[in-house]
Amino acid sequence: MLSREDNELLTRVGPGTPMGVLFRRHWLPFMLAGELSADAPPRRVRLLGECLVAFRDSRGRAGLFGEHCPHRRASLYYGRNESGGLRCVYHGWKFDVSGACLDMPSEPAGSNFRHKVRAEAYPVLERGGLLWAYLGPEEKRAELPEFEWLGVPAERRHVSRWLQDCNFAQALEGEIDESHVGLLHRRFDAAGVAKTALTGAHFREDTAPRYTAHETPYGLACGARRSVEGGQHLWRINLFLWPCYTLIPPSDDPHSRIFRAWVPADDTHTSVICATWRTDGPVSDAERAQWRAGEVAHRKLVEGTVTPVARAENEYLIDREAQRTQSFTGIAGIRAQDAMVTESAGAIADRTREHLGTSDKAVIAFRQRLLAAARRLAQGIEPQAPYDPDCYRVRAHAALVPRDERDFTEHDEFRRAMLAP
Ligand code: FES
Ligand SMILES: [Fe+2]
Repeated sequence: MLSREDNELLTRVGPGTPMGVLFRRHWLPFMLAGELSADAPPRRVRLLGECLVAFRDSRGRAGLFGEHCPHRRASLYYGRNESGGLRCVYHGWKFDVSGACLDMPSEPAGSNFRHKVRAEAYPVLERGGLLWAYLGPEEKRAELPEFEWLGVPAERRHVSRWLQDCNFAQALEGEIDESHVGLLHRRFDAAGVAKTALTGAHFREDTAPRYTAHETPYGLACGARRSVEGGQHLWRINLFLWPCYTLIPPSDDPHSRIFRAWVPADDTHTSVICATWRTDGPVSDAERAQWRAGEVAHRKLVEGTVTPVARAENEYLIDREAQRTQSFTGIAGIRAQDAMVTESAGAIADRTREHLGTSDKAVIAFRQRLLAAARRLAQGIEPQAPYDPDCYRVRAHAALVPRDERDFTEHDEFRRAMLAP
């Protein structure tokens, strides 16, 4: 449970809010690189509550502007993307990706006014198949985080994006919340799942894992320990990385990895970006087809959009007969199940009315870290992670180990994984 004040502090990310200021110290992915084509019409972007317009110029450079033209504030979304710049159609002022004004046809020839006016342009980087933006003060600009997958060749990874209709914090909390995995995602027809895999069957053996959460330079390492057959412990460690990223350990295939970014579009919408990659070699055609089809890590989307097919307005296509006989939810797809529970808590969950148990340790630690960092920054104490990009070179890890009372941090293999791949 949080006080009303803390719930507001945690969830509001618009300009000038303490959490919004903290997020504006970080580069954030806002789109897949493939969503923008050279000289194609500009696209609307919502990021941290700001209304923006993205475009790609004739040379392939991506630009990100505040939506409104610096002249008399018409929307640049309706502009023309032509010959190296975006032109406002009200009076024809044209701007390149840096915001410099290239042309001002409404002013007399010989006027130098165009050299005094700039579009509100944000820095954009293209890496890992994503477009990243920095919305903070220029003098505080840091480096992109050095996630492992950013260094993986394009043919070994796949990125996707969808929109979730709720605040980023509750969407992300669903990802680091290990305790729901054996319940929400339970299938009644999975009795044959091999217990050697770090998956299904083991989750069912112990639905009340023991939790620990450890502060790290990149954020939090959240461990969940299940007692499983054969005198073993199954430890799964979920990572939260500043300010809105998660790494979860693999389930069946130890070489197939998942990263997610829970980027606030605004206070009540989250742009979820998922990167899947292989650590051991090229991705097979079959696996890539599966990734594309949204059958593994991704949500099926309405063609050509970032809108999931299964969503609140169609009750996530719930099948009550399947809920009785096949799965806990009757909803197809793990991601749709996650979205259903986090979105149905409300656009911004009312955390003053929660009742948190011992299984919520990671969620509590996540909130405390974010709240403390936002408060510290409001007092002038800068966050460390954005200026230490190498701290992001970590992996989420899961393993079966002989039962003992040690915490996962005392096992070498976990320490190695949490420090460097
Ligand atoms: S409002 Fe954009 S050129 Fe005048
Ligand atoms: Fe889940």
